[in-house]
Amino acid sequence: MIKTARILLAGAAAMALAGCATAQAQPAATTTSTNAVPIRQAEPEWARLDPEMDAFLDELIAKMTLQEKVGQLTLLTSDWESTGPTMREGYKQDIAAGRVGAIFNAYTAKYTRELQQMAVEGTRLGIPLLFGYDVIHGHRTIFPISLGEAASWDLEAIEKSARVSAQEASAEGIHWTFSPMVDIARDARWGRISEGAGEDVFLGSEIARARVRGYQGEDLGATDTVLATAKHFAAYGAAQAGRDYHTVDISERTLRDIYLPPFKAAVDEGVATFMTSFNEYDGIPASGSKFLLTDVLRHEWGFDGFVVTDYTSINEMVPHGYSKDLVQAGEQAIDAGVDMDMQGAVYMENLAKSVEEGRVDIERIDEAVRRILEMKYRLGLFEDPYRYSDQARQDATLYRPDFLEAARDVARKSMVLLKNEGDALPLTAQAQSIAVIGPLGNSKTDMIGSWSAAGDRQTRPVTILEGLQARAGEGVTVEYAKGASYAFEDEGETDGFAEAIALAEKADVVIAAMGERWDMTGEAASRTSLDLPGNQQALLEKLVATGKPVILVVLSGRPNTITWANENVPAILHAWYPGTQGGHAVADVLFGDYNPSGKLPVTFPRVVGQSPIHYDMKNTGRPIELGAPGAKYVSRYLNTPNDPLYRFGYGLSYTTFGYSPVTLSASSMGPEGSITASATITNTGDRAGEEVVQLYVRDLVGSVTRPVQELKGFEKIMLQSGEARAVSFTLRPEDLAFTRADMSHGWEPGEFQLWIAPSSGAKASTPVTFTITE
Ligand code: NOJ
Repeated sequence: MIKTARILLAGAAAMALAGCATAQAQPAATTTSTNAVPIRQAEPEWARLDPEMDAFLDELIAKMTLQEKVGQLTLLTSDWESTGPTMREGYKQDIAAGRVGAIFNAYTAKYTRELQQMAVEGTRLGIPLLFGYDVIHGHRTIFPISLGEAASWDLEAIEKSARVSAQEASAEGIHWTFSPMVDIARDARWGRISEGAGEDVFLGSEIARARVRGYQGEDLGATDTVLATAKHFAAYGAAQAGRDYHTVDISERTLRDIYLPPFKAAVDEGVATFMTSFNEYDGIPASGSKFLLTDVLRHEWGFDGFVVTDYTSINEMVPHGYSKDLVQAGEQAIDAGVDMDMQGAVYMENLAKSVEEGRVDIERIDEAVRRILEMKYRLGLFEDPYRYSDQARQDATLYRPDFLEAARDVARKSMVLLKNEGDALPLTAQAQSIAVIGPLGNSKTDMIGSWSAAGDRQTRPVTILEGLQARAGEGVTVEYAKGASYAFEDEGETDGFAEAIALAEKADVVIAAMGERWDMTGEAASRTSLDLPGNQQALLEKLVATGKPVILVVLSGRPNTITWANENVPAILHAWYPGTQGGHAVADVLFGDYNPSGKLPVTFPRVVGQSPIHYDMKNTGRPIELGAPGAKYVSRYLNTPNDPLYRFGYGLSYTTFGYSPVTLSASSMGPEGSITASATITNTGDRAGEEVVQLYVRDLVGSVTRPVQELKGFEKIMLQSGEARAVSFTLRPEDLAFTRADMSHGWEPGEFQLWIAPSSGAKASTPVTFTITE
């Protein structure tokens, strides 16, 4: 039981439950926060309740009118930013009238204090507002996009990024982030692949936990932590054909085995809130799905936080064809388990009537209200509603040098070296003249990617050109030509080519900074081609034709089909959108001040037609290996290999690593047993480097078919040149659980293969086998 509430005005305790008129006679209050605006009216009603949480909530809810309760279930955007298709006029009047319990897209100590004051001082009960915001990969100091962070496979660094985000956001009055997005994404056409942790269940679950830990810390009551949100529940990433908001039609087994585990991991880590998704699942929009929101989330998993919808997604149940009107939509949503309505005002406008007319139980309303108020309580808002709106803390916190350093560190850890023929990288002292070419070479706007919260796109981001110039030694020239454009409509243009080619011709090395514009991934940013957009490919070919060594640095939020580049460009670095310090981080890697260690969290297809593609495919009854090359009647394409361009888990280093054969502690385990698998990894190159050591398993026969490989463990280790280290992973039967034929969750006895490898493409020629016995 948490017991943190303190009475705001100690002297008023005797007036408990006395009513507003008497209370207003009290002297002005002082609050506990720095720079606090004195509360002019008497203490709010709740200030005189029993401070112990359950009693406090009981008493407070007992005092609320139905309209006030519905107000707590309502989240509205401020007009500062728009993150969805509709705006609602007059949110301030709604606050003042007690019609809203939470606000998003409003921040800064000053603004949140101003709005908070309207709620605390201006409404009958004075219940504080909850401020939410999309703090996805940094708040002011922007870290790499989430998919990029995932490529670091560095849980500590990822947790640190979330921690810094929480510190900055909470210093600007934010209590609640709409992050982490834990949607598994296996189709690079879907623009929101950039916002998650990639395609894998195990890696995605570990990262979900790390992010929740980072945001929420040990104590929600600390002023530098925020509530996290596991979103979008559920299966949003399985949108048909990769088109955002599109129908999802997957089996319950796939839902449970692939899409749900990261959400469950977030629950296990204590995530405070869940957000529904826009899509339908099994014919029912997620915001109306009792199966998802009550049966699975509450009954199976025991989640005890609150559920918010995504932006107007209750309203969208009408065009989905699930609700005949908004009244019915609101009733279906509350009944399914939605506690808070984001931006749709469906609850605000209809729910009280639905209760009064007997179609919704007041107990269900009280339950939702209680879940929301409990979070406000746990944040300490009933102790001091202004405790997060502290100008002095804001001034001392934003863009702290250690935050910028952390962002640079995560950025270089996130970059994946995809190719490095002839040791084209790192740049050597021979590179006296460097040409940076391409639309992403000197673009501040693009460096921080989409969903960059309150990130500054205009001045703060360090571009690749700036980063290289800052790092290049004396006498080294670093010059820039844009050369090409990423705009779709510029595909046939050649205007900038001549200038770029001339610059390349006089340089020792060309850094081609190409990829996608920052908003070509993220929400509502699906593509049917994964090629470099605009006329970049044409310029890249011309740059290669100059004969100069070309290093391709890709900035993008998704896998791109850089198949031509893979064959023709000596070195390729995928740098995602690396954030505020991105240019420095790129320079760190290109000059070898940091030895790249990122590994892909998603498969890169050769052509878009391979999508969706992922490393843990099923074997099929006619696997390609069964036929001679080019054979008919096997599972393959006529015109493209089955293999992707780059596999999940792949990434190069400036050094090399050797893997010993795997040893097992035993060749079988019983239901209560475990097996430890070990391999020795040696740095066989001439410089120190980090390696992500990966454990894969294949369950050979099951009551339902099993994937050809599944990641079951990983460890990122640092090895000096020549150093060797044994890495061990312990597996128990429950680590090999899945949804069995009878839909129960568990493992099955039988034979398994196991291997320890540097990527999912490196299955040992002789994997070791073990069995689980009954
Ligand atoms: C819609 C997005 O789907 C969601 O991820 C985001 O948190 C909300 N808008 C709020 O901006």
